[in-house]
Amino acid sequence: MKIAVPAELAEAESRVAATPETVKKLIGLGADVVVQAGAGARSRFLDADYQAAGAKVLKTAAAVVKDADIVLHVRRPDAKELSAVKAGAVVIGVMDPYGHEEAIGSLATAGVRAFAMELMPRITRAQVMDVLSSQANLAGYQAVIDAAETYDRAIPMMMTAAGTVPAARVFVMGAGVAGLQAIATARRLGAQVTATDVRPAAKEQVESLGAKFVAVEDEEFKQAQDARGYAKEMSKAYQEKQAALVANHIAKQDIVITTALIPGRPAPRLVTAAMVESMRPGSVIVDLAVERGGNVEGAVAGEIALAGEVKIIGFTNVAGRIPSTASSLYARNILAFVETLVDKAKKEVAVNDEDELVKATLLTKDGAIVHPMFKPKAA
Ligand code: NAI
Repeated sequence: MKIAVPAELAEAESRVAATPETVKKLIGLGADVVVQAGAGARSRFLDADYQAAGAKVLKTAAAVVKDADIVLHVRRPDAKELSAVKAGAVVIGVMDPYGHEEAIGSLATAGVRAFAMELMPRITRAQVMDVLSSQANLAGYQAVIDAAETYDRAIPMMMTAAGTVPAARVFVMGAGVAGLQAIATARRLGAQVTATDVRPAAKEQVESLGAKFVAVEDEEFKQAQDARGYAKEMSKAYQEKQAALVANHIAKQDIVITTALIPGRPAPRLVTAAMVESMRPGSVIVDLAVERGGNVEGAVAGEIALAGEVKIIGFTNVAGRIPSTASSLYARNILAFVETLVDKAKKEVAVNDEDELVKATLLTKDGAIVHPMFKPKAA
């Protein structure tokens, strides 16, 4: 059984799908592991570290994936790399299938069994494989660090001989995995933190982190969580009430961090240009939802946009800004999933199509898109 770890193709991708630590464990499953030269460099994992862990290091992606039974990626591989992968091989990564039917089609055409890690069900057994959580948690942390770096005042209250510095006011919008970590990080820095969400369950979590919860808590709010624990898209009437409440609050904030997402929908627009304008000069907004359409009017993906004297940070791949930590956690998520796909005794790939983890994540098989959400509709 051969497991391949090609370098990521995207310029913007600093992470890697296996670390020397996980390579050792993959070898423990009976695999030969081949890593592309330089694959871990941006995460500070050197070729020599992979070799010391027992991997073979080869120069080209084509050589790395040749005859591989399992190919590990952060992002979806392109058609060129796939052409060197044998039919039937397992390819695992964050496949970003929504709206990318053509690319998913090329996975099917290549005949590989492609698994999308982001579709992993959020059940207890699969927590260790939850890449959305592992990466969102780091993004929430890094959003606060980026905000602090860009903000030209101090965050904590400081009582000094030269006088008192007031604590910065931080408002976190969306208190899921990223938002909760942003709250915790801002609190550790000494900020005065408030947060909002549309799911009632978020209230207690926000308060348990020592932040104040701010939201329109009407009947709709009480029903805002779907069966899987995700937010529903709110009615226009709710959004208007929410906007009125938030507008008042934002005008008094120094830093706003937005993380609000709705699965399969564009990110909700929570901060209008008028709200941005109401903030005092030097305030900072971080829009973690910028890649999904953005929560903040005026946010630009990949940039720090200036709206008057307010800076709107729209960095993409925010977990990838701390690539070493992000890769370590991502690689462990991947390893845990691979462990469920191999027969350790026989040292071979053994995918159980009846396993709920496989059913939830398998996109393509035998030349076709098989996932119910992305399968072409029958004529
Ligand atoms: P997400 O990334 O889909 O969304 C981020 C946050 O934005 C959510 O808290 C959502 O309620 C909020 N949001 C959506 N629309 C909003 C609006 N109009 N205004 C304000 N906030 C809005 O969510 P994430 O972080 O993936 O977590 C979703 C849920 O799944 C949470 O309840 C989380 O605790 C739960 N979860 C469960 C896991 C498990 O293994 N059981 C693992 C990870 C998360």
